Amino acid sequence: MSKLKAAITGVGAHVPDYILTNDELSQMVDTSDEWIMTRIGIKERRILKGEGKGTSDMAAKAVQNLLEKTATSPDEIDLLICTTVTPDMVFPATANVISDKVGIKNAFSFDINAGCSGFLYGLTTGSQYIESGKYKKVIVVGADKMSAIVDYTDRTTCPIFGDGAGAVMLEPTNEEEGIIDVTNFVDGAGRKHLHQKAGGSVKPPTHETIDAREHYIYQEGQAVFKFAVSRMADVSVEMMKRNNLTADDLDWLVPHQANLRIIDATARRMELPKEKVMINIHKYGNTTDATIPLLLNEWEPRLKKGDNLIIATFGAGFTWGAMYLKWAYDPQN
Ligand code: UT7
Repeated sequence: MSKLKAAITGVGAHVPDYILTNDELSQMVDTSDEWIMTRIGIKERRILKGEGKGTSDMAAKAVQNLLEKTATSPDEIDLLICTTVTPDMVFPATANVISDKVGIKNAFSFDINAGCSGFLYGLTTGSQYIESGKYKKVIVVGADKMSAIVDYTDRTTCPIFGDGAGAVMLEPTNEEEGIIDVTNFVDGAGRKHLHQKAGGSVKPPTHETIDAREHYIYQEGQAVFKFAVSRMADVSVEMMKRNNLTADDLDWLVPHQANLRIIDATARRMELPKEKVMINIHKYGNTTDATIPLLLNEWEPRLKKGDNLIIATFGAGFTWGAMYLKWAYDPQN
C-alpha cells in the first residue's frame, strides 16, 4: 500500500449569465476585437450583475453543483478553502459565507489569497489536510468577481478579466493516483508590478483614494508578462523533469488562463502539442482563482482515470507553481 494521497474526486462550476463581448468593450474604451484577440486571445468574458451580489454567490453555486454531482451532503464536508482576491468583505472570510450559503456546518473554513496561483495554493493546502489522515472530504473553491476591481476606463486592463467560480472535492486514496507532486513559489518584490493600491490597512479608503481610482487593479502588463512567461514555463518543465515525464507521457497541461501567448510559450517549452493543452480563455478571460477549476470542469467528460495532468500558474505576488496529478476517475454517464 502506498502513502496516503489526496485525489480530486469531483468538480463543479458556475459562471454568471452576462456576456461582455469585445465589441461591447470597444464601445467603452479605445480598443478592438482584433487587438484583444491578437495580444491576449479573449473573445468574451462573463460579468456578475446585480445589486448586492458578490464572489460568494458564484462560489456557493459552484459548490452546490459539486455537492450535487458527487451526491455529497454538506454534513460530510470537513473543510472548505476559498481562494480569491475579491472577497465579499475584508472580513470575515468568504469561505465562511459560502459554507453558510450551502449549509456546511460540521466543518471549518478559511480563505487563501495568492493572486492567480490561489487555486494551486488551495489544492496544495487542502491536500495536506487529506494526507494527514484526519480529514476525509475537503472542498477547494476558487472564485473571483474581477469586475468589482476592474477599471472599465483603463483599456490596458479591462479586456483581460472576467468573473466565475469553480470547485473540486479532495478525498484520500491509497492508489497510484491523485496529487503526486507540487511546487509553489513566491517573490514578493513583484508586488510593485501588480496590485490594488488602496482599500487595505496601508491606505484605507478615502475620498482621495476613490478620486485617484486606486481601488482598481494596477498592472504593468509587460513586466508581468515577462515574469509570467519564464516562471510558468520553467516550473512546468521542472515538474516534468523531476517526475521523469516526457511530452508523450503527459495527457494534459492545465495552465492558468491569463494570456494565450503565455499559454503557448509554456506548451512550447514543454514540447506539448496544442491538442494536449486545456484552453478556454476566449470564453471567460482571466477569472483569476477560477481559471483552473473552470478548465477541469469543462474537460471532465474527457478525462480518464490514470490521465497525467500538469497544472501551472502565475499571478500577483508574484506567485507561481506547478502540480503533477493522476486523474482519479472515469467520466460518469
Ligand atoms: O494573471 C495575472 C497575471 N497577469 C498577466 O499574466 C498579464 C501579463 N501581461 C499581458 O498579458 C500583456 O502585457 C497585456 C495583455 C496586458 C498587454 O499586451 P502587450 O502586448 O504587452 O501590450 P503593451 O502593453 O506593450 O501595449 C502595446 C500597445 C501600446 O501602444 P503603443 O505604446 O505601442 O502605441 C498600448 O497603448 O498596445 C496599446 N494598447 C492597446 N491597444 C488597443 C494597450 N491596451 C490596448 C487595448 N486596445 N486594449
